[in-house]
Amino acid sequence: MCAEFWHNLYTFITVALLGVLYYILFVPVTWKDNDANDKKSAINRARRLRKIGTKLLPPFPNGWYKLATSKEIKPGTAKHIACIGENFVVFRSTDSKKTFVLDAYCPHMGANLGVGGIVKGDCIECPFHQWKFDGESGSLVNIPYSESLSEVEKFAKIRKWTSKEVNGLVFVWYHRENEEPWEIPVIDEVDNGRFVCHGWNEFRVHSHIQDIPENGADIAHLATVHGSNILGGADINNMRNSWFSFGSHIWNAKWSSNTYFKHMATVKLTHIYKLLSFKLIEIDADIDQIGPGYVTLVLKLIFGKIIILQTLTPLEPLVQNLSHYFYAPWYLGWLAKFIMYGETINVARDVMIWNSKEFVRNPLLPKEEKPLKMFRSWYSQFYSENSKTFAQAHETLEW
Ligand code: FES
Ligand SMILES: [Fe+2]
Repeated sequence: MCAEFWHNLYTFITVALLGVLYYILFVPVTWKDNDANDKKSAINRARRLRKIGTKLLPPFPNGWYKLATSKEIKPGTAKHIACIGENFVVFRSTDSKKTFVLDAYCPHMGANLGVGGIVKGDCIECPFHQWKFDGESGSLVNIPYSESLSEVEKFAKIRKWTSKEVNGLVFVWYHRENEEPWEIPVIDEVDNGRFVCHGWNEFRVHSHIQDIPENGADIAHLATVHGSNILGGADINNMRNSWFSFGSHIWNAKWSSNTYFKHMATVKLTHIYKLLSFKLIEIDADIDQIGPGYVTLVLKLIFGKIIILQTLTPLEPLVQNLSHYFYAPWYLGWLAKFIMYGETINVARDVMIWNSKEFVRNPLLPKEEKPLKMFRSWYSQFYSENSKTFAQAHETLEW
């Protein structure tokens, strides 16, 4: 009887531990800050009351922007995505499995191809009267009930957007002067599936897009916003809780623009977690900022490498979607989730600052903050003559 009891207990504990292990290694975790109603209304209120700042820079700089993850666009499916002041339909071919990005609205009578559009091969059929458009060119290829295709086809073309699917993400090229796109570097481990996505977070940030990458060159904020123990939490009002002062974070960072690829900038970051005065964890990170909307972070730890992909896409002139995807080999799922926990809290602290700040066009910068000046001059390449101004971008939202 007694032996049976212990046997059952061991079995129970083993099964429970295997369950926990399975969860840690194989179940991706997600964290979203934009679905809590009370938080949403508080943010909206803050947004209305907030000082926007004078001389706002254009809200949609030129570059690649993520529209979706590869997993979100299954073969034969279409999705409507509104961002950067545009409406897109993204769909994946049933034959070639390629993804295509077109303007969402049908030139016939304006139905949205991303809402009920039917994917056929490399084409998409409108859900209203079944006009069919080619994903490769945007050309009209069929009207099922009309012979007069040649008369209308030249008017019926839909705008085809340059897009690229790489590292598990679907990007669109947005450039107001129609310049040729730059390459998005392929990260082998992610692109060939050797690394697994163990989780992702998603924030809705209410600030100018430039505020977010500027963080990488803002060395002085690291100690203030990210120095307190991570266990103190994401709320910058309470994070300095003395209960958690046994731990702290030391950051060192160096920002520089890339001499070969002018659209790229690099941050070399070192992060030390100290328990009292004992150095417990040290992480080195190589960070590449690739244009205004995409960042890759390679974290080197004693157990191995973690790769984080950060995407930033403007949803509205002062509303950004900021996401991070955490990749590691399958057996480092526990580590990727641990890193995700720390990174999510740190980003949430930044988000509290971004959500409530104004945009300052000409900040007062002492000589120690030279990287911020260098960042601003580097970033200015993404604004061009025809960039939409804040007022122009805002007009399209007033209806
Ligand atoms: S609105 Fe698209 S086919 Fe008529
Ligand atoms: Fe930060």
